[in-house]
Amino acid sequence: MIDSLQFRGSVAVVTGAAAGIGFACCETLADLGAKIVAIDKNPTFGRELRKTTKGNVWPDRYYIADASLESDVSRVASRVAKEYGEIVALVNVAGIAGNQLISSMDTDFWNRVIANSLTSVFLMSREFLPLLKDGEGSIVSVSSTYAFSSRANKAAYSAAKAGIVGFTKTLAIEASKMGIRANAVCPGPVISPRRIENSASGADNPEEAAARTLLGRFAEADEIANLVAFLASRAASYMTGSAVVIDGGQLTHIGAVT
Ligand SMILES: NC(=O)c1ccc[n+]([C@@H]2O[C@H](COP(=O)([O-])OP(=O)(O)OC[C@H]3O[C@@H](n4cnc5c(N)ncnc54)[C@H](O)[C@@H]3O)[C@@H](O)[C@H]2O)c1
Repeated sequence: MIDSLQFRGSVAVVTGAAAGIGFACCETLADLGAKIVAIDKNPTFGRELRKTTKGNVWPDRYYIADASLESDVSRVASRVAKEYGEIVALVNVAGIAGNQLISSMDTDFWNRVIANSLTSVFLMSREFLPLLKDGEGSIVSVSSTYAFSSRANKAAYSAAKAGIVGFTKTLAIEASKMGIRANAVCPGPVISPRRIENSASGADNPEEAAARTLLGRFAEADEIANLVAFLASRAASYMTGSAVVIDGGQLTHIGAVT
């Protein structure tokens, strides 16, 4: 088990790498010996090298690119193909949220959330599938508990995250012919720069979100990264087409936790 969690210098491509869950996925995969190709549209992340707790240095490459834009994704995929030839893991973390009621939602908002949170997963999977190692490659996409359960204001986000689950099932079927696995991860509330900003602006209510979990707290980003790394590794060799919930028990109950 421990051995099959090691990446031994093989390449993992991670979107949304500049912050939150994506950043934690890079650190965890790098700690397990993967070479990290980090992608984010945020140019302020910079090209500085980071060190994991084991002293492993990442990223191996950093691309400023928008995963929802076909031209950016194909540019990065051809650079990665040229530089590495083959990768073992694609981790789709990039996504955005946002709150609007359906009755007053503007179409631009809908299109923006779907493009960043769902179309990005399609484009990255299509372009990087040919680079994934036959018989070992793995795609992990970050969905949400909002794929299964929602609230007012969250129609676009819920649709995108449920879309990832449906997309992943078809991807798993089609990629199985190449021995490649595809799974989705569905986190509940996770501490991240976005959620900290949202709490400060009043768009998020962290106490209420924490109280809806059985564990009474948000996840740390590296708790999600541990699951992502497991699914990306050979340790999860019999897992494909799954949507794995990691939510501190948020979806387990109906009504208040007493
Ligand atoms: N934080 C949570 O509570 C939570 C819960 C469930 C699921 N998620 C999902 O996990 C993922 C990461 O969330 P987070 O809270 O760490 O977010 P975050 O906003 O803190 O970080 C997201 C990163 O993705 C990048 N990004 C967004 N769209 C992009 C695009 N089109 N191309 C390239 N980069 C892009 C951003 O620049 C940012 O660096 C998202 O898909 C989110 O929906 C988050």
